[in-house]
Amino acid sequence: MGGVILGTGSALPQRAVSNKELEKIVDTSDEWIRSRTGIRQRHISSAGEYTYVLASRAAEKALEMAGVEAGEIDLLVVATISSHMLMPSSACFVQQQIGAHRAFAYDLNAACSGFLYGLDMADHYVRADSSKKILVIGAETLSSRLNWEDRNTCILFGDGAGAALVGASDSDERGMVGSNHFSDGGLWNLLYMHTAESCNPDIKVEGWNGAHIAMEGKEVFKHAVKAMEEAVRGLLAKTGTDLASVKLVVPHQANVRILNNLMERLELPKDKVFINAPLYGNTSAASIPIALDEANREGRIGEKDLVLFCAFGGGFTWGASLIKW
Ligand code: ACO
Repeated sequence: MGGVILGTGSALPQRAVSNKELEKIVDTSDEWIRSRTGIRQRHISSAGEYTYVLASRAAEKALEMAGVEAGEIDLLVVATISSHMLMPSSACFVQQQIGAHRAFAYDLNAACSGFLYGLDMADHYVRADSSKKILVIGAETLSSRLNWEDRNTCILFGDGAGAALVGASDSDERGMVGSNHFSDGGLWNLLYMHTAESCNPDIKVEGWNGAHIAMEGKEVFKHAVKAMEEAVRGLLAKTGTDLASVKLVVPHQANVRILNNLMERLELPKDKVFINAPLYGNTSAASIPIALDEANREGRIGEKDLVLFCAFGGGFTWGASLIKW
């Protein structure tokens, strides 16, 4: 039996930052940001709102919805590229914070595709042992990893966290239908983020330009829409699914223009696609689980509805997943 999602949760930093406020920091305008990205605001962490803190809040809400205690979790995965420490992982901090004493915990680095990779892994884990409960979290504080003088990147991203508790389905009619994931390191330099500068002079990283996101926006845009379209089409073919039978598409919220482009290519009607990027910007690994939690709590998904996810991010990493709710 495959994995089902037993509960979802999400959390955002308190402070919302409008495009107008960004006008005071970099040479940009509300009009430019809205027309190129559809983003109106994003949430930015304040003191103490680390990645693991947001992740823990999202996790507690998912557990509450599922009616499952933290002590029942077997495995806890945090998909993130913006931990406040490299070691221990954010997952270990979350484990301690929520009291998931039985779980082993680790972080997963697949940029914006991290949550979907984690979901796929959780599904395989519960297929191997149906007693297992796995908490998959996508959480980011990318505000800590941005060059706030680079208008090409800093206007795009936001902070937040989303979580999904995965367990075995009690019926063959519900659960993960399939996944279609890919990676290609060949084009890494179109979207990347260095760590802190090397302490070893012999392995100084060539081209080190700060521990923040660097990106060739136009190129990323082109690759993102093509890759997500192909991943979705491949998954539908592989699982024998007609796109018309999908109730809701919950894509990675890169920005509204990318999503409009994707919807055009797939001929998807707007009301079939959940979009909240205007309010949160691109929250990387957190974007799909935040959107999923909102869609779930708004009643947009019912039992046995087909929900389709797709993502694209640094690596490059990309893919699509399909679940029967
Ligand atoms: N405010 C004002 N002007 C700006 C800004 C800004 N914030 N940023 C760039 N510009 C300027 C550029 O300097 C350029 O000026 P120039 O013509 O004088 O050189 C002009 O606006 C046009 O820039 P373009 O890069 O051509 O703008 P484009 O239409 O490609 O939009 C954007 C830029 C929004 C980044 C787009 O390329 C995009 O969406 N790319 C995808 C990036 C992305 O989503 N990355 C996230 C990670 S990957 C993922 O999640 C899928």
